[in-house]
Amino acid sequence: MTDSAVIDIRPVAGDDLPAWTRAWGNGYLRPYAESNVDAIRSSADRDRFIGAFDKDRCVGTYRSSAQELTVPGGSFLPVSAISRVSVAGTHRRRGLLTKMVEMDLRGAFERGEPVAVLDAAQYPIYGRFGFGPSTAMAWFEIDVHRARLDPRRTNDTSGVLVVDPREYLKAAPEVYERLRAVQPGALRRDERWWQEATGQHPGPGPDRPEPFFALYMDPDTGEADGLLCFSAEERWGAMLPQSPLWVRDLVAVSPRAEAALLRYAVTVDWVTTVHLPYRAPDTLLPLWLGDPRAARISALSDYMWLRILDTPRALSARTYGIEASLVLEVADAAGYAAGTWLLEGGPDGASCTRTTRGPDLRIDVRILSSLYLGDDSATRLAALGGTEEVRPGALARVDAMFRTGRRPWSPRAVLGTRYQAGAP
Ligand SMILES: CC(C)(COP(=O)(O)OP(=O)(O)OC[C@H]1O[C@@H](n2cnc3c(N)ncnc32)[C@H](O)[C@@H]1OP(=O)(O)O)[C@@H](O)C(=O)NCCC(=O)NCCS
Repeated sequence: MTDSAVIDIRPVAGDDLPAWTRAWGNGYLRPYAESNVDAIRSSADRDRFIGAFDKDRCVGTYRSSAQELTVPGGSFLPVSAISRVSVAGTHRRRGLLTKMVEMDLRGAFERGEPVAVLDAAQYPIYGRFGFGPSTAMAWFEIDVHRARLDPRRTNDTSGVLVVDPREYLKAAPEVYERLRAVQPGALRRDERWWQEATGQHPGPGPDRPEPFFALYMDPDTGEADGLLCFSAEERWGAMLPQSPLWVRDLVAVSPRAEAALLRYAVTVDWVTTVHLPYRAPDTLLPLWLGDPRAARISALSDYMWLRILDTPRALSARTYGIEASLVLEVADAAGYAAGTWLLEGGPDGASCTRTTRGPDLRIDVRILSSLYLGDDSATRLAALGGTEEVRPGALARVDAMFRTGRRPWSPRAVLGTRYQAGAP
């Protein structure tokens, strides 16, 4: 076995891509395909792919790309989005991931990206690098027979239009953009993303059967206000239909669009269970059913992880629930976010500057990152350590400032076939 000190961690060149793609596939249990290399070769921010090489063998993969995150108040913050993180089973626990993270976070900081985000495959990996869970997700399973939706009430689904992928591609990106502008926790979906989602451009991963697409057209404005993408399987048991339906994407910019699209999905004939993954835990979706208890939560989990790299830029980019000020002493072992900062913020905006004043609260960057989008409570997390309330009342003030009326949500579409096979 080669000493980890001699493993070369470096940006990935064009010639490395087949080996890099194979190593990533090994880590993510995805069989190698030539088409994956092509998809990866043409992806954005190719200069931000990192590989770990043991002589000529690729044993670690990592990438980041420029993204935009919607923060409370509606600003789009430039962020570094990390993905494709893997280390070969033969080279684990020797610090390769640590070195790749360090190289990439330094790059993000130098490029001026104030925050990094990722979806953590496993909870224990990223806290040590300053990340904290910043949005949560609930996975619902709807028992159609208990949902008390009468399929004869076709008025409930009026406005829903079943469309083909091309029609969907024309209208859906605009719907998503309207949601993204008001949804803290949302990330941008670019043109290539939509082409892959609708099968107009092959993405990395196994071939997928074409899903079903629908839009919600508002009867008053004629505008598309919602989108739905789902797959379903024809399944029978002794002359009784038992088909599951998997919602892959459901985005709506008005309550009536959301209600109509959900009701449509739940009243598709033959369907007995609707899987509805990756929703904010406070989603209204179950409440559109006749009996909301028909929507059981089968998983409730942390979802998007976030790491603040530039405290003043991150904290001044969002708005706050009340007009108040706060002195935060931020601890960050890697240094990026560390310092004592005066935050003055309110519903119309905020400023955050370095200060020599004594702190109201000492807080680890991991905890501050978890609080950033408003999903968690400083008072709650204080019980776990990582904060010290220097001035009494500081934790309550953080909560009054940072928390939001509705929880942040990172809307994700589920594109691969793994979702169907792996529903919890
Ligand atoms: C997760 C993964 C990338 C870690 O790579 P690695 O090179 O072994 O990580 P490092 O050696 O830099 O480990 C850094 C620290 O994190 C810990 N750690 C790493 N992976 C961990 C895991 N899955 N569970 C718990 N702790 C983990 C290590 O023990 C180490 O801590 P220590 O120094 O106190 O022992 C690797 O296990 C992997 O490829 N897993 C499968 C794919 C995957 O889950 N990728 C993440 C996608 S988001």
